[in-house]
Amino acid sequence: KKMSILSSLSVTWSLVVLVVTLLFIYGVWPYGFFKKLGVPGPRPWPFFGTFLSYRKGFYKFDTECYKKYGKIWGIYDGRLPILMVLDIEMIKSIMVKDCYSVFTNRRETNLELAGPFADAVSVVKDEKWKRIRGSLSPFFTSGRLKEIFPIADTYGDRFIENLKKRNPEDGIKIKDVLAPYSMDVVASASFSVEIDSINNLNDPLVAHIKKMFNFSFFSPILLIITLFPFTASLLGKLGITLFSKSSMDFFYSSLRKIKDQHSTSNNVCKRVDFLHLMIQNQILDEQAEKALSEQPVKGLTDHEILSQSSIFVLAGYETTSTTLTFLLYNLATNPDLQSKLVEEIDEAFPCNAPVTYDVLMKLGYIDMVISESMRLLPTAPRLERVCKKTIELNGITIPKGTLVAIPTYVLYRDPQLWESPEEFRPERFSSENDINQYTFMPFGLGPRNCVGMRFALMIMKVVVVKLLQNFSIETCRETQIPIQLNSFFQPTVPVTLKFVPRSHKKE
Ligand code: HEM
Repeated sequence: KKMSILSSLSVTWSLVVLVVTLLFIYGVWPYGFFKKLGVPGPRPWPFFGTFLSYRKGFYKFDTECYKKYGKIWGIYDGRLPILMVLDIEMIKSIMVKDCYSVFTNRRETNLELAGPFADAVSVVKDEKWKRIRGSLSPFFTSGRLKEIFPIADTYGDRFIENLKKRNPEDGIKIKDVLAPYSMDVVASASFSVEIDSINNLNDPLVAHIKKMFNFSFFSPILLIITLFPFTASLLGKLGITLFSKSSMDFFYSSLRKIKDQHSTSNNVCKRVDFLHLMIQNQILDEQAEKALSEQPVKGLTDHEILSQSSIFVLAGYETTSTTLTFLLYNLATNPDLQSKLVEEIDEAFPCNAPVTYDVLMKLGYIDMVISESMRLLPTAPRLERVCKKTIELNGITIPKGTLVAIPTYVLYRDPQLWESPEEFRPERFSSENDINQYTFMPFGLGPRNCVGMRFALMIMKVVVVKLLQNFSIETCRETQIPIQLNSFFQPTVPVTLKFVPRSHKKE
């Protein structure tokens, strides 16, 4: 009897040892990747890789790595290796030259977790992406944007009216007022609806959009998937997605109603917006399938149309309001440069003349100010592409399937590329200074860059021009100077500024 207890104990122990060993092997398995490629980088932890170093902020981690390892290094998001690249020739190849043949797609998104977003332009891959992107790009030409301009103009005016009601002595948490503006313009242009979250914060559609998009990048689900990628499809099957399911359902059904109304109504052509343009080019599901195998077909299917209008809001709402928040902070803390911009605006629109698309597009200094603000505080501090075919770049063989990232925050503060990189100097973007396009890409670069770039620039310029026509933007007691950023690259304290009515307006 004793023997059998002993032997079952030893079996148990052997099993424990085996499991622990297997677990350990599983935990360290991926980490020979960069050694094999001859790429340096910080030492990874079992299971976590270098993920824990993000705690201080991934932009700080990227900066440290650049100092230690030079222009190319490797890190591990959990088990996932990421090749970090700051070499200009390599950036050119990844973002532009080899985009179609090798670096077409972003980080793999688990399609079940992406839920209905699986067919959004930012998620889809290869030929399908080409068709969808090709169908959307014409909406963002100068001619089309001119037709969409009235939407931004209307909401810009509402934004100013709303600000005028506030006490000019009070500090304003500017993101709280800029976010409804971005939401209204982007959602209204994407869904063909009159949204008014500037005046009505409880609009049910807006509440759902916010709830849906308000997920944290450190949400427990995302953390689990990063550390244990194999759980992703299981979570998906359990109906757990990155976005709140009830909000998503409400949202898609509201959107469908809007779309159906749009398709059946005869006099819809009064207003041009993205949903309207997409419906005009709608194709059947069968045609989309054919497009993969046969000739390039343009146009979007019914479900794809709903997904693109949603992704426009997801990709455009937060990015635009964050970029504007940083921009106004930079203008408030650099009053001389703000005055220079006001001069440009007053000259272009004398006596507070209405803002028109053509004149807006001719302004020059505002572009320099926006660029410089996005250099110092980039809304996208990293860009990513997946290498879909083994390729040799700069003497390094990048195996098929490798995720490659460009830490743009580090690029924009590299003293080898920028003189006094910590200073806000819009003049560095004047036309005499030929900026190398591979060193500055606030909206990404190449065929997979931000499809909404021109639209985003337009809506930012509209609101900045209208603001400066009416107010001077000033710092106040509550303004945190210099701005401190948390590990997610968000201000630790909400950016608070004062909008003081311009005195000559009172005359
Ligand atoms: C200031 C505001 C914005 C910033 C800073 C920004 C930035 C970016 C960046 C960095 C990318 C990735 C590019 C790359 O990987 O090379 C991107 C992609 C994208 N953006 Fe924007 N964006 C902004 C506003 C918008 C707006 C308003 C829209 C709405 C139309 C939009 C729609 C998209 C889409 C759909 C993609 C994915 C494109 C694709 O995969 O083909 N963005 N954006």
